[in-house]
Amino acid sequence: MGGMSELSALLHEHRRFSPAPAFAAKAHVSDPAIYAQAAADPEAFWAQFATELDWMAPWTQVLDWQPPHARWFVDGKINVSANCLDRHVTGGRRNKAAFIWEGEPGDRRTLTYFDLHRQTCQFANVLKGLGVNKGDRVALYMPLIPELAIAMLACARIGAVHSVVFGGFSAESLRDRINDAQATVLVTADGGYRRGGIVPLKQMADEALADTPSIAHVVVVRRGVADIPVHMSEGRDRWYHELMDGASAQCAPEPMDSEDMLYILYTSGTTGKPKGIVHTTGGYLLGAYATTKWVFDMKDDDVYWCTADIGWVTGHSYVVYGPLANGATVVMYEGAPDWPAKDRFWEIIERYGVTIFYTAPTAIRAFMRWGTEWPARRDLSSLRLLGSVGEPINPEAWMWYHEHIGHERCPVVDTWWQTETGSILIAPLPGITHTKPGSATQTFPGISARILTQQGDAVPVGGGLLAITHPWPSMLRGIYGDPERFVQQYWSKWDRGTYFTGDGAKLDDEGYYWLLGRVDDVLNVAGHRIGTMEVESALVDHPKVAESAVVGRPHQIKGQALCAFVTIKEGVARSEGLADELKAHVAQKIGAIARPDDIIFAADLPKTRSGKIMRRLLRDIAEGKALGDTTTLADPSVVARLRDQYQDEA
Ligand code: WTA
Repeated sequence: MGGMSELSALLHEHRRFSPAPAFAAKAHVSDPAIYAQAAADPEAFWAQFATELDWMAPWTQVLDWQPPHARWFVDGKINVSANCLDRHVTGGRRNKAAFIWEGEPGDRRTLTYFDLHRQTCQFANVLKGLGVNKGDRVALYMPLIPELAIAMLACARIGAVHSVVFGGFSAESLRDRINDAQATVLVTADGGYRRGGIVPLKQMADEALADTPSIAHVVVVRRGVADIPVHMSEGRDRWYHELMDGASAQCAPEPMDSEDMLYILYTSGTTGKPKGIVHTTGGYLLGAYATTKWVFDMKDDDVYWCTADIGWVTGHSYVVYGPLANGATVVMYEGAPDWPAKDRFWEIIERYGVTIFYTAPTAIRAFMRWGTEWPARRDLSSLRLLGSVGEPINPEAWMWYHEHIGHERCPVVDTWWQTETGSILIAPLPGITHTKPGSATQTFPGISARILTQQGDAVPVGGGLLAITHPWPSMLRGIYGDPERFVQQYWSKWDRGTYFTGDGAKLDDEGYYWLLGRVDDVLNVAGHRIGTMEVESALVDHPKVAESAVVGRPHQIKGQALCAFVTIKEGVARSEGLADELKAHVAQKIGAIARPDDIIFAADLPKTRSGKIMRRLLRDIAEGKALGDTTTLADPSVVARLRDQYQDEA
């Protein structure tokens, strides 16, 4: 994915794909008038949609907007778990599969809505028994197993706030997130599987727990990972299955205020410290519900599979809350796409008859590289819709997905959104929108976006910064414990009522959005959001490192690769071994997803006269581009040396 360099190619993309009449005829929405209707009165649009959810008390006002603070469905009372479970159990879906789960080693389980409801109630009672009250934070550090969704739903049932920490994060990352949220309970597992290897979650949790004074109890799910020693700390650690054994399956859902906190999810930003993004109850659920229903055209007989890990927002909104609120059947797969063979995904689609498949461009580009023979060996005829998320999808990958997975039969929905937006904001409606390969197309009904210049002027056709100009129900309500940063980060670029996404985008002459990637110091590596400052902090934490600057460079599969420029302390010899040591250090501090692809040792980092590191220049060097004007450099020879050296090493 070439970001800016692919821009002109993108804008000369003339291919169009219109919804098949047979698809449109059955779609939830097929009348384009919905866009104008929703735009004329977005609050009325959302309020109408919200009547499809079960409320325990009605709202008195749809939106209270004191920029940048929004309250949606004021005074409304609602419980997320009741909307995801109870109404299906009593409404005809009691025996329908809620989750069809497959572990990486091939173990399989199916949970009906009845099963999921029962186990959620039991675990809600377990949490109560451990002293968890409404508003308390519960940290979840687990593999992709049904118990993770059960724990989330159990928190939602009693009004506790969950904070899921992706199982690929390090012990230190887990510790920092627990401490920031002041979680009182941690739910984890013995371990999980990934690409044939074992992730020793409990051991990593133990390391984190050495320094998390707020945690009173740890619940450990026995995933059944063989050969993994689990140390249970007396008085602190309890087995999930033992606690569940004695737990009642009766637990009335807590009536939550629409604006009560549902969860915190940490994500990378432009500083060294991840931000705890806060989502609340009513508006978030509505956003996840409405977009799942319309963007994926979710129907009762669909078998839906979103390949994201629940540790990311995509898993929160589109593995758990959105599909369950729709009463869908959700496939959940624990492991890697190439384990034990490169057709594992296609095998899963064939086995369960998956109809809706939602994955990331980085995965699609890997499939392209592996070759068409892998999907060709499997029956993919059950598929009827394909989705993409997480990073810009290049037209070539879009076309490959359309041809070799969708067999030119399935609409492709490229969905743009963020942890902060809670749900999809820009995507086609598959029964209405003509798609163009590489474009996320148009805003969801009720959403208002603009392309703005730095100064805040609207760009009618052309490139600029993507802004959201009207509040939406699933918008973030804050950064946990840091109200100033919330305002400064998202609502200060222009006026207090205009949300800055951090993304660059281009609007074409038909009003289609073409996303171009981040314009801040956030990278997107294989669909994972990584802050350059976080990686820099991890590097300078190493005793041999004096200074570092991390930039992204284009990468064929991962979209972006992490390229770290490092100056080492006087008297330390640079070597291949040291580069590996530094990469391992970052992986150990943050998690394997942040391991730098390249380490470039430099005598000096290029800085402006005021001492700012010139990142644009480093990006150009990392990309191997010709260098532009460098007259603002304090010592221009630094760059020449870096460039020469980079050409030698790369
Ligand atoms: C990028 C993931 C282009 C974007 C849901 C955004 C995308 C960041 C797309 C959020 C897309 C996500 N096209 N770019 N369809 N989807 N992005 O918070 O840069 O992990 O700001 O949420 O991913 O990443 P996050």
